[in-house]
Amino acid sequence: GKGEFDHYMLKEITEQPTSIAQATEGRYDSRTGAVSFETVPDGTFSDVDRVVLVACGTSYHAARYGEISLRRAGIDAVALLANEYGVAAPPVDERTLVVAVTQSGETADTLDALRRAGESDATTLAVTNVIGSSAARDADHRLFIRAGPEIGVAATKTFSSQAILLTMLARRIADETAGTRSPPAKADVAEARSSSVADRWSDLDRLPSLVADLLETSSAESIARRYRDDRAYFFIGRGLGYPVALEGALKFKEITYEHAEGFAAGELKHGPLALVTPETPVVTVFTGTEDAQTLKNAEEAATRGAPIVAVCPDGHPALDVADAHLRIPDVDPTLSGILATVQLQLLSYHAASLLERAIDKPRNLAKSVTVE
Ligand code: M6R
Repeated sequence: GKGEFDHYMLKEITEQPTSIAQATEGRYDSRTGAVSFETVPDGTFSDVDRVVLVACGTSYHAARYGEISLRRAGIDAVALLANEYGVAAPPVDERTLVVAVTQSGETADTLDALRRAGESDATTLAVTNVIGSSAARDADHRLFIRAGPEIGVAATKTFSSQAILLTMLARRIADETAGTRSPPAKADVAEARSSSVADRWSDLDRLPSLVADLLETSSAESIARRYRDDRAYFFIGRGLGYPVALEGALKFKEITYEHAEGFAAGELKHGPLALVTPETPVVTVFTGTEDAQTLKNAEEAATRGAPIVAVCPDGHPALDVADAHLRIPDVDPTLSGILATVQLQLLSYHAASLLERAIDKPRNLAKSVTVE
């Protein structure tokens, strides 16, 4: 049951310290950074030279997160909407790994893409929360995110676990294929605030307690209250912050029924800026890579009078232009997007709660979409 919580969604948001710990438990060595998965034998990925991720909705945003982690590890990767895969599938061969990201393992669109991939020479992998699901059964290999049951239609803890698992998968594929690839572009390495494996993995160790702190101290409720009567809500971010912005907007629109859109921060000036007014708060996600540019994009919106809600660590330069602050700890950029997502989940939850929406069962939506 929901226990002390008004909604399953809040319960599931609050469970993330545990679900994140479960996702990683026994799967990485914090000293060496080596990743191992109990269901995937060593060497499975040693021939992989391209990864195609297919998914829908929130899982697609996790796939986009994974795509960036893979590319930053020097691996050719693309994330596609599963419902577009059949229309224009990319070329795949025996060195392609097709990853179906689906918490339920029963999404018809994703299963269809997985089936098509299975008919090709590609190797297939399901990343899912449900052990006996169709995706787990149909794929060549499977990885379980171990998030525990998620009842709320809005996906929350499954997103964070998928994003973490895909980050770990990137590391694992990079290790298994090291020597067969050219090193990642210098720029990618240089842009990370702290990109050493040791730092990243020690931050992963701390992630459950960082999420627990964030849940206790979040100002999401008062921010939701402050902007509850606005016209539309925009979410922008760059790099890993972009899928986080997309996910922030999806969560917001699906449970508040308010107009919300996510944009790549750099795209704002290529069109969406026309929508920006003093009645459109712009939630800006700073993940620690190229934050200076993202700040310029937030300033473009602030100049048009839009309130800026900055998702960033304390002491961040964005706070000079921000009207409100959703605080995230200063961690490795690979993981800061996960903490930012938790803040955005809380923001949507509180906004929907103030509007008295049917949070756990939003109108017109189903938890598992088994039709194409
Ligand atoms: O079970 P799946 O992860 O395959 O579901 C895909 C989407 O239907 C799902 O992520 C949906 O977008 C979320 N429930 C929205 O919160």
